[in-house]
Amino acid sequence: MKTRKLGSSDLNLSVIGLGAWAIGGSGWAYGWGDQSDKNSVEAIKRSLDLGVNWIDTAPVYGLGHSEEIVGKAIKGLRDKFYIATKCGLIWDAKGKLGYDLSAQSVKKEVENSLARLKISYIDLYQIHWPFPDDKIEEAWEEIMRLKDEGKIRYGGVSNFNVPQIQRILKIGPVVSLQPPYNMLNRAIEKDIINFCADSNIGIVAYSPMSCGLLTGKYDGAKISSLPEDDWRKKENGEFREPKLEVNLWLIEELKKVADKLDITVAQLSLAWVINREAVTAAITGTRNKKQIEETAPASGIILSVAIMDRIGKLLKIRDEKLGIIHEPRKSLPRKYKGE
Ligand SMILES: NC(=O)c1ccc[n+]([C@@H]2O[C@H](COP(=O)([O-])OP(=O)(O)OC[C@H]3O[C@@H](n4cnc5c(N)ncnc54)[C@H](OP(=O)(O)O)[C@@H]3O)[C@@H](O)[C@H]2O)c1
Repeated sequence: MKTRKLGSSDLNLSVIGLGAWAIGGSGWAYGWGDQSDKNSVEAIKRSLDLGVNWIDTAPVYGLGHSEEIVGKAIKGLRDKFYIATKCGLIWDAKGKLGYDLSAQSVKKEVENSLARLKISYIDLYQIHWPFPDDKIEEAWEEIMRLKDEGKIRYGGVSNFNVPQIQRILKIGPVVSLQPPYNMLNRAIEKDIINFCADSNIGIVAYSPMSCGLLTGKYDGAKISSLPEDDWRKKENGEFREPKLEVNLWLIEELKKVADKLDITVAQLSLAWVINREAVTAAITGTRNKKQIEETAPASGIILSVAIMDRIGKLLKIRDEKLGIIHEPRKSLPRKYKGE
């Protein structure tokens, strides 16, 4: 498994990380239907054999459950995994979600995460969403204090735009940004990706397979048969019309590209993400060991310029079919250097 240094930190992350959102299970607003804890623990342990050395979770995933399961799986393996978790998304006694970036809340959240994960420090502590916007400086000051206290090793952010990162950079270093990035969501290409490359901020891309759609296993019937409590069924626009029909066309075309390379659509989707400068790693959501057995080997796939161009043309056709107009980019995202 290939590793890359995360921004200005000394964390050498495997380019495929394990995402623990779906592992949080059902019973909350953004659950993925039923999830077997046994499968989750097995997947995490198996990922280690495959060279995965970091896990991304969050308190809100399953309202604490994901962190507890990660804690269970890494028992006795603390030195083998970097652990990344987040703060800022909280819930009340009825499970209603809310945002809080006050110093007091962040301080409380980190203690709760350490207890659920059963560890004494967190390697990467990230602000989950920049909400409320006027509190990001207060949260960042607290995160820098937690770093000084040794409770976390590095601070990162998620879902921030460039001006928001610039504001908190005045307070302390930002080692990473966690944005969505996949073939269907290329918003960060406008300015974020090159800003991060120039500022030595590592990008850990979330939803690299567009929440499973870019594995090629879904069609209209399979989506209809997703359980009612899988948030993708009602809330993910890529899984619904008018986008779905065009996305399924694209996936058919990607399958032809993948077949020629003798890889799967999931692997092609991940290789496309990690082929960019500033993208340190792709966080692949994993529900069982079979899934990570397929996705981890994407680490070794390097896509040629010709293949990237072919995919670029397909994405352009998709955008045209959907009437999506991309704002002009300052410059093209650069290819990952150094391999
Ligand atoms: N910071 C944020 O706001 C934010 C937001 C989203 C995600 N994240 C992080 O990023 C991680 C990854 O994102 P994601 O979970 O949305 O998306 P993803 O990696 O694009 O998709 C993951 C899903 O695809 C399916 N899958 C995975 N491997 C597969 C395989 N080999 N074959 C077939 N299906 C496979 C699984 O769901 P099914 O089997 O049910 O289809 C899995 O849960 C999350 O776990 C979380 O840690 C962060």
